[in-house]
Amino acid sequence: MTQERETPEIRSEETGTEADTRRVFLRRAGGVVLLAAGGLAWRAYDTGVFDAGRGPAYEPWQSWRGAGPSEGPLALVRAGVLAASVHNTQPWLFRVGANALELLADPFRHLGPMDPFRREQHISLGCALENMVLAAGAQGLRPELEFLPGKLSQPLAEAPGVPAPEVVARLRVTPSRRDISGLYAVISQRHTNRGPYIADRGVPRETLWAFNDLAREDDSLRLVLLENGARRAVFDRLMVEATEAIVADQDMIAASNAWFRLTPREVEKHRDGPTIDSFGLPPLSLAAVKMLPKPEPEKTHRQWVAATRDVQLATAPLVGIIAVRDPYERATALRAGLFWQRLHLWATAQGLAMQPMNQLVQAIDRDRQLKRASAFDGGVAEILGGDGWRAMLAFRAGYPTVAAVPSPRRGIEGLVLEEAPASSLREADLIAEQGDLSPGSAADPAVARDDLRRR
Ligand SMILES: Cc1cc2nc3c(=O)[nH]c(=O)nc-3n(C[C@H](O)[C@H](O)[C@H](O)COP(=O)(O)O)c2cc1C
Repeated sequence: MTQERETPEIRSEETGTEADTRRVFLRRAGGVVLLAAGGLAWRAYDTGVFDAGRGPAYEPWQSWRGAGPSEGPLALVRAGVLAASVHNTQPWLFRVGANALELLADPFRHLGPMDPFRREQHISLGCALENMVLAAGAQGLRPELEFLPGKLSQPLAEAPGVPAPEVVARLRVTPSRRDISGLYAVISQRHTNRGPYIADRGVPRETLWAFNDLAREDDSLRLVLLENGARRAVFDRLMVEATEAIVADQDMIAASNAWFRLTPREVEKHRDGPTIDSFGLPPLSLAAVKMLPKPEPEKTHRQWVAATRDVQLATAPLVGIIAVRDPYERATALRAGLFWQRLHLWATAQGLAMQPMNQLVQAIDRDRQLKRASAFDGGVAEILGGDGWRAMLAFRAGYPTVAAVPSPRRGIEGLVLEEAPASSLREADLIAEQGDLSPGSAADPAVARDDLRRR
């Protein structure tokens, strides 16, 4: 009975409500889809899925040529800030005068236990110097570099009192013929590429010879290039082990993580640090990473080790080490930076991708800071041939599978110190307007420019 009574009821209910239920379901599902789409769109917007490399934080890459070939010394600063720097810390400040510029280390912009002797900070400053030298040539200025001597020590920030910016190099400029180098032309195209490279497309022999020629320009450096073989295997193993050592060191990994900028808001606020866009992910993975919730730190650390081993090393046809005799000499670190920037610009002009992989050096310095024997130091000495050369910067190179993107930059406004040696920022602008430093340095800048056009 019950069944009989119930069955028709149920049937009629079903019949009556089937369409309704479907409508309700579709309405609700539609709502859910809309909500989800809305949520995703919001998250996509919030995480900047669609606007990689856009906004004020990327503007210095567009405006770096400033007022053009007669801008004067500020053009050097604009080019300088586009250089590579460890973790995109941009540890530079400038003093700008009529005939000289000073480059200063910003004591608050270093990686602490990741770079305890500020070696990488100084390499980064050297990178800026290379861009400045190239920009000087393009401005019709002959640059003369002077490095401040001395040894690298523990960070000033750890010393008592408020640390002050420290002059590390001086660049004297005298008017000369304009010299626009091919490397100058690619300053804004050079970007660190962390994506997979084409594993079976080796770097041509002539390019390797050219790398070595560039290295020979500075006899304080030695360039060691490795493709295959036993030393390459040791390099790869040590690099992975160094990455593992870093993620196991709470202080190091915390210092590193503090510089990552994972949302557009953070990017716009700080205009520095590594961003998700700069991870070198293929487009779909990049969008997915941006949309997914932030993973647990342990997971990202495991992913870093895996990416180092299975992507960055596994697909790199070439790795290299820039070696020096005394890695704790300030001028040597600066020179290594000049060389790295030059090498990377040169590679960029050839369509090659490059990435510093400096975990090895970071692990060596951490061991030194904690006064413990370093397996990494010994291992690298073995790769370098054991005749007193020490690692300064390790890297990989190859042909890219994913285009590298610009990383954020701070504009030059806050970076040029008021108490400039000869003139303040405003005065430097004035000098440029007056043509004091325009090419040819004739009393009348217009004459100087005409002169140039005739050359
Ligand atoms: C001294 C030094 C060490 C670096 N070490 C690494 C590294 O270990 N891994 C990496 O992916 N990038 C490394 N970089 C690259 C910087 O992260 C990169 O220059 C910075 O994020 C700015 O990006 P850009 O080079 O594309 O302008 C290093 C750069 C310098 C100058």
